[in-house]
Amino acid sequence: MSRLGIANTMRLAYSYNRLKFHRQDRWRRTLYQTQLGTLLEENGGLSRPPIEMKDGWAIDTSMSLPHLDRVLDDSEKIIAERCGQRTSSTGAYRSYFQNLGTPEDLERYPAFLDFATSSDVLSVVSHYLQCIPALSTTLPSGIRLVESNAAFDDQPDNPRDSQLYHIDYYSLPNVYIIVLLRDTTPEHGPWTFLPRGVSQKTRRALNYWSRQRAYRVSDEDIYSVVDRKEAIEFCYPRGTVLFIESSGCFHYGSRNSIKPRFILMIGYTGACRTDFSEVIMPHEVYPIRDTDSRLRKIVLNKNMLE
Ligand SMILES: [Fe+2]
Repeated sequence: MSRLGIANTMRLAYSYNRLKFHRQDRWRRTLYQTQLGTLLEENGGLSRPPIEMKDGWAIDTSMSLPHLDRVLDDSEKIIAERCGQRTSSTGAYRSYFQNLGTPEDLERYPAFLDFATSSDVLSVVSHYLQCIPALSTTLPSGIRLVESNAAFDDQPDNPRDSQLYHIDYYSLPNVYIIVLLRDTTPEHGPWTFLPRGVSQKTRRALNYWSRQRAYRVSDEDIYSVVDRKEAIEFCYPRGTVLFIESSGCFHYGSRNSIKPRFILMIGYTGACRTDFSEVIMPHEVYPIRDTDSRLRKIVLNKNMLE
């Protein structure tokens, strides 16, 4: 990727994925354009006024999204059981960051998928992606319960990897939903981002995604073109939800989490990705029941085609 440049690699991957998934892509777009209302209705309907992502993001502090209470309760159980110790599934990469969740949790704690596939959430993501989204099966993981903890970090004063500004290249566009599982302050190493407009200006000014640029960018380089005040730290009470296009907004997180940070990260993509992760990685498989709504089945099965 570094030899070809990120933008070129994304173009190549997109062409490849179009050959493979153009029918799924067209189907998901057509469903969005012609049947979204019916699909949302069959899936339980909307329970509150819509949330609209503006400039690549939206923060919902209402605590009213469906199943949010259950997500918070079940997360507490998982955190109590597994936090503070290194899980075996975490490799050397990102010593400061680990997924406490397991695939089995999705069956044992249905709240996570109920939340991720609720109509209120999916209408926001569908409108942004202009298609019926799929829960990502490779990168980013579809569902992660993440602990960031400086105690695990072998170099807490040396930000690196996802602790440095970058724009995700996996899928264009993709949307993350991030739920704060505990109150979050600057000491927790909050998720920090630049809104989309500012990010895109910065991207052009820095020639980011070109062959000349590394994937991760130093603060010094970013703040040489954008005012530091533009950065938004996702510091809010437990239960606050961020919707963000991580493929459009510069972001970083988990920087020196001297107080452990706990968040739920949900990743949605369209059918045609801009990376090769589906070629080289095993795919996550989500539990689907016969009784699930059509919309839920489509979101949980990326390859589905009717
Ligand atoms: Fe990222």
